[in-house]
Amino acid sequence: MKRIDLAAYGVPEQVVRCVDVPDPGPPDAGEVVFDVVAFPINPADIAFCTGSYRLRPPLPATPGAECLGRVVATGAGVTHVKPGDHVINLQRENWVQRRRVRGDDVIAIPPAIPPRQAAMLRINPPTAQLLLSDVTPMHPGDWLIQNVANSAVGRLVIRLAKAQGLHTINVVRRDSLFAELQALGADHCIVDGPNLAERVAALAAAPIRLGIDAVCGPALARIASCVADGGAVVTYGAMSGGQPAIDRGDLMFRGLTLSGFMLGRFLGRRSLDEIRAIFADLGQQMLAGKLDAPVAAVYPIEQIAEAVAHAQREAKGGKILVAPNGMI
Ligand SMILES: NC(=O)c1ccc[n+]([C@@H]2O[C@H](COP(=O)([O-])OP(=O)(O)OC[C@H]3O[C@@H](n4cnc5c(N)ncnc54)[C@H](OP(=O)(O)O)[C@@H]3O)[C@@H](O)[C@H]2O)c1
Repeated sequence: MKRIDLAAYGVPEQVVRCVDVPDPGPPDAGEVVFDVVAFPINPADIAFCTGSYRLRPPLPATPGAECLGRVVATGAGVTHVKPGDHVINLQRENWVQRRRVRGDDVIAIPPAIPPRQAAMLRINPPTAQLLLSDVTPMHPGDWLIQNVANSAVGRLVIRLAKAQGLHTINVVRRDSLFAELQALGADHCIVDGPNLAERVAALAAAPIRLGIDAVCGPALARIASCVADGGAVVTYGAMSGGQPAIDRGDLMFRGLTLSGFMLGRFLGRRSLDEIRAIFADLGQQMLAGKLDAPVAAVYPIEQIAEAVAHAQREAKGGKILVAPNGMI
C-alpha cells in the first residue's frame, strides 16, 4: 500500500514522498482496520511538513491530522463500528491508504455525509464550535470579530454563530469574498488593514465581546483593537508565521484577556462520551448541509507534491483533498 513519508523537514512539496509499505494486516482484539477514503491538507499539516508544528517526530514521519475512513475489519470486542462504516480517526498519521488503530480512536459517522465534507469533520467543525463555547460566555445578540473569515474554520464560525443568535464581523484580505460570506450569515465583512478599529466601530451595533485570530503578528493586535473593554481575544492559528502581538494598553488599561486555543487541549477536558456526542451533533449538522467548506481540488495520493504545493497558494478558494484509494 501507499503511504506519505517525510524524507526531511523542509519545503513541503520537496520533502513529501509517496512510498510503498506493507499492509498493516488484520486487526488484533480491540482494533479496527479502515481504508482512508480522503484526507484534507490543513495548515497544521503544512506546518508539520516544515518542522514548525508542535509535534516533530523522528523521520521518516507520516503527516495527517484527520481523514475519512471506511472500516474494513474489526477485532474481537469491537462493537461500536462494523465493516463498511464510515469513521473519523482521533489519531494522526493519516496520509496513507490503510490504517490499523485502537477501536476507541474511531468514531462512526453517518455514511450519507458527502465524503469530501466528512473528510473535514474531525478538526475544523469542533474548532469553530469550541471557539464559540469555551473562550468566554457568549449570549444571543452578542457580537464577535474574526480574521481569516473565509477559511474553513472562519466559514464554520459564521454559520454556527448565526445559528446561536451571535453577530459576526468578518475580516478578510479582499472584498470579492463579501457576498459569499454574507450568504453564509455574516453580518458584516471588512478588509484587513490600517484603522481597522475605526472602520469596525461604524459597523457593530453593540460592543464586540470576542475577537478570534488565526493570523498572529500585527493582525492579532488589529483584532484586539476592535474588542470592547473587558472582552476576550483568542488566537488559534498563525497564518502569518508570526508571534502574537498586542498593544499592552489593550491588556492593562482596557482589561482584555488574551488566550490560546488548541482543539486537542479543549477536547482533552472532555470524556470520550462527550467527544462522541460533539461529533454526533456536528455530523448531523453536516448531513443536513448546515456545515460545509468549499473544496478547491482533489488529488490522487501519488500527486502529493502537487497537492501540498496547491494547499499553500494564496486565495486557493477552498480545501485541497487527497483521495488515496480512488477518486471521490
Ligand atoms: N488551534 C487549533 O486547534 C486549530 C484547529 C483547526 C485550525 N486551526 C488553524 O485555523 C486556521 C485556519 O485553518 P483552515 O483549515 O480553516 O484554513 P484554510 O481553509 O486552509 O484557509 C486558510 C486561510 O488563511 C488565510 N491566510 C493564509 N495566509 C495568510 C496570511 N499570511 N495572512 C492572513 N491570512 C492568511 C487564507 O486567506 P486567503 O484566502 O486570502 O489566502 C485563508 O483564509 C489555521 O491557522 C489553522 O492552523 C487551528
